[in-house]
Amino acid sequence: MDELRAEAVRVEYADLVAVRDVDLVVHPGQLISVTGPSGAGKSSLLWALAGALRPAAGRVLLADEPLGNREQAAARGVALVPQGNGLASSLTAAENVLVPLLSGGVAADEAYRRTGEALTLVGLEESGNHLIEELSGGQQQRVALARAFAAQATVLLADEPTSDLDAANRERAVAALRAEADRGAIVVMATHDPEAAEQTDAELHLDEGVATWVRTPV
Ligand SMILES: Nc1ncnc2c1ncn2[C@@H]1O[C@H](COP(=O)(O)OP(=O)(O)OP(=O)(O)O)[C@@H](O)[C@H]1O
Ligand SMILES: [Mg+2]
Repeated sequence: MDELRAEAVRVEYADLVAVRDVDLVVHPGQLISVTGPSGAGKSSLLWALAGALRPAAGRVLLADEPLGNREQAAARGVALVPQGNGLASSLTAAENVLVPLLSGGVAADEAYRRTGEALTLVGLEESGNHLIEELSGGQQQRVALARAFAAQATVLLADEPTSDLDAANRERAVAALRAEADRGAIVVMATHDPEAAEQTDAELHLDEGVATWVRTPV
């Protein structure tokens, strides 16, 4: 099977347990949310699912194979949209989307086409030539999403992708995440936003690292 599977994943920082033995299975086509208060462990769980940190115990599997480190996971199509966006502030919006595609070996004409489409998807077709530092926080967040959409990921992990967005742009972002799932991606979104969470197929709630399903995946 092609699912993303966390088995008893535990994330620790020194003596703090941030994620406590979480089990999770997400299938291609599913969009699920991870909710919970600030400090509950949402980002830590996403980083573990991205291969960006190594669990203290448990393991993460993609298609029945251990996920590997961040580089290996990225090579398998695991994209992470980090909280706070992770963009290069001295590049333009379009360059932030385009450069990773080109450096990942996508042909130039295809990379330009995907960049234009992804910026249009998040409503930023007019802003491609703006430097990141000239954009608002919400616009930057939309560029970070566009970059992930352009990558056509197998697994898309979005950490609070709508926290700085108004209602209309939140709806657009959630619809675009849904479209990623519909084309067959595994999509996991961490969010504080109940209106974003309720549009997902299932909601895993974290509290002090302990996970409970608010809604289970069907
Ligand atoms: N690099 C780190 N070193 C030490 N402790 C950390 C580190 N990163 C996170 N923590 C701690 O781990 C816990 C979970 O943090 P995490 O960032 O996963 O929470 P979160 O649910 O994403 O919160 P938020 O909603 O504020 O983004 C918190 O108590 C936090 O202080
Ligand atoms: Mg977080």
